[in-house]
Amino acid sequence: MKTNNSKKIFQESQNYLVGGVNSPVRSFKGVGGQALVMQKGLRSKFTDVDNNEYTDYCLSWGALILGHANRNVVLAAKKTAERGFSFGTTTQAEVEMAEHVAQCVPSIELVRFVNSGTEATMSAIRLARGFTGRDIVVKFDGCYHGHFDDLLTVAGSGVAELAESSSKGIPHKHIENTISLPFNDTEKVKAVIEENKDKIACVILEPVAGNMGVIPGTKEFLQILRDVTQKHGIVLIFDEIMTGFRTSSGCVQSDYGIIPDMTCLGKIISSGFPIGAYGGRKDIMECLAPLGSVYQAGTFSGNPVVMKAGLAGLKQLNDQVHAKLNQKCENFANELNALFVEQGVDAHLAHYKSMMSLRFRKEPVLNYKDAQDAQGHERYKELFHFLLNRGIYLPPADLEAFFVSTVHSKKDLAELSDALKEYFTGLR
Ligand SMILES: Cc1ncc(COP(=O)(O)O)c(C=O)c1O
Repeated sequence: MKTNNSKKIFQESQNYLVGGVNSPVRSFKGVGGQALVMQKGLRSKFTDVDNNEYTDYCLSWGALILGHANRNVVLAAKKTAERGFSFGTTTQAEVEMAEHVAQCVPSIELVRFVNSGTEATMSAIRLARGFTGRDIVVKFDGCYHGHFDDLLTVAGSGVAELAESSSKGIPHKHIENTISLPFNDTEKVKAVIEENKDKIACVILEPVAGNMGVIPGTKEFLQILRDVTQKHGIVLIFDEIMTGFRTSSGCVQSDYGIIPDMTCLGKIISSGFPIGAYGGRKDIMECLAPLGSVYQAGTFSGNPVVMKAGLAGLKQLNDQVHAKLNQKCENFANELNALFVEQGVDAHLAHYKSMMSLRFRKEPVLNYKDAQDAQGHERYKELFHFLLNRGIYLPPADLEAFFVSTVHSKKDLAELSDALKEYFTGLR
């Protein structure tokens, strides 16, 4: 595989961009080798600047459920841009988008659009604190909610121990009010919440985690969280930035029938344009300026091109489309896992609908500790390059989920399946 042009551009980029990138994982530090520079994408494929074509299973980190350059999205963005890009006023496009989101996700009575997932979670936390008048945030080890100071923490060692920051540059006082607990540990979270009930503003989690590979929250875990937060007036926030509109148009909350007070969205809702959103109960959302005294604002928030493109994408999703995509993924995962069992392979494919991740052990993975134990490390790097050489692109990082779109064909998935079989069993 020739990568001369990627190499040249990436070398030059390092003169101007920090580490040659605008987001660290793009540097390929996690997998080694030449970071690729992409030039175009269509449907399930994208092409680098050396004209190598790959079937893309990263899909802009889960944003592109309809694949690259979806025709209706392209047309909506073009048509809207021709009438002007940004007005700094309310537009009809925002209203249509908000109405569609609220119709699909009934727990969202009012919504605020922002420009990234990080902005959505950061603002949701501020609002929950403003609404409750409390400071503490409970999160879960291995869940990622963007690069907001208060949430950028790894696990503490004890039950209610305060978390350590995952990044330099975060004053300790920012994480003094953050408690990070093991995912799916019902007893621990119940005990910690009961003990701190009058100080906790909110509990935030990915109800199906995707940032430590794919780990669905158990129904019992999510139900206990719902019950205990309701009992103590604590705001329950589902971060559905990765899962929202991927698993179904009602999101994970409708799959489980567990309704949070607030929801954060991003990625899919704009079909690949920059976006974030947070919304939920009316009484909570009305604490936000201009109605209330919790401040949050944005020059480009609700940008009309983003709204129109996003809506054009969301309108192509419905129960039938999700059912077809989810079934395709179920078949793929079941077939591969059955073969792994038959061949005694020490790995499995974890998945929730069209979110997937490879685990380098047979045993199920229920939390961050398990996820670290099931990491491939050097084997993931080897697998990544093995697939890349066959024209298949997985996320260039071990613990990230990979994704299937509505336009990945049977042939695409058969090629991935064959390549994984060959890598793990030597069979084709
Ligand atoms: C669950 C979750 N929350 C928040 C974020 C942050 O979103 P953004 O990268 O748009 O800031 C991500 C990004 O991957 C995410 O997966």
